[in-house]
Amino acid sequence: TDRYAVFGNPIAHSKSPVIHTLFAEQTGQQIQYDKICVPEDEFIQHVNAFFEDGGKGLNITVPFKLEAHDLADELTERARRAGAVNTLLLTEAGKLLGDNTDGAGLVNDITERCGWSLRGARVLILGAGGAVRGVLQPLLAHQPESLLIANRTVSKAETLADSFSQLGNIAGCGFDELSQQSPFDIIINGTSASLSGDLPPLPDTLLHPNSACYDMMYGKELTVFLKWAQQKGCNQLADGLGMLVGQAAESFRLWRGVMPEVVPVIKALA
Ligand code: ATR
Repeated sequence: TDRYAVFGNPIAHSKSPVIHTLFAEQTGQQIQYDKICVPEDEFIQHVNAFFEDGGKGLNITVPFKLEAHDLADELTERARRAGAVNTLLLTEAGKLLGDNTDGAGLVNDITERCGWSLRGARVLILGAGGAVRGVLQPLLAHQPESLLIANRTVSKAETLADSFSQLGNIAGCGFDELSQQSPFDIIINGTSASLSGDLPPLPDTLLHPNSACYDMMYGKELTVFLKWAQQKGCNQLADGLGMLVGQAAESFRLWRGVMPEVVPVIKALA
């Protein structure tokens, strides 16, 4: 049985073992998948020990994605652009390859499960932290008409937009500039504000009758961002559970060479 795991700290609430076990059942693969809480200053030792011990692949979550990026011998283009790694595997040549499947998980969920078209869309993304940086390249690869990053700290939005400007029409701004914008087709919340029940200040004018709203966070209840959208009459809403299962599916494909079905697993978890 091939062994996989997710490394993080904390890790108790991780759904990754359940997700990958369901993928393995569904595709008839034999795998073991554990969640491991790694002490903050022992990440590298634990990664090396895992692979020396015959482990086949790792998922990496908070707070180790940047360290995993620095540790990898080779990076995929999307992981290099993200500046963060959520998936590690050992290549046949014995090198540690780092990938980032978060953005693919998001865009697959948006375009396939939700059925929202990114191509030609006016897209607004809220937040300019690691979570947003991790998904910009896959979003831009779908050729939206424009991608605007709005952030509390304006300079972070502008710097982030600058570093992706070769990949598409992307700009950064502050929340107070949003009232001057025409409505958006797709609005994605990538701030960590929802975790504390906060909502960035958003003008009603962001939405048109067919706008769609996606929250990269998820929870048992509708997130504050999705509640805001619903109250404003938006009826195309999705939370980040699909992204979570989607990024796992991309990791599973990288490791096992087979793409699992995400929808039954999302239903099993919801
Ligand atoms: P993550 O890895 O989740 O992206 P991060 O890199 O710390 O975490 O980024 C958090 C993001 O959420 C940032 O864009 C942050 O805004 P600032 O750059 O101005 O700090 C945003 N954020 C967090 N709390 C927020 C709040 N209460 N209101 C608005 N934005 C918030």
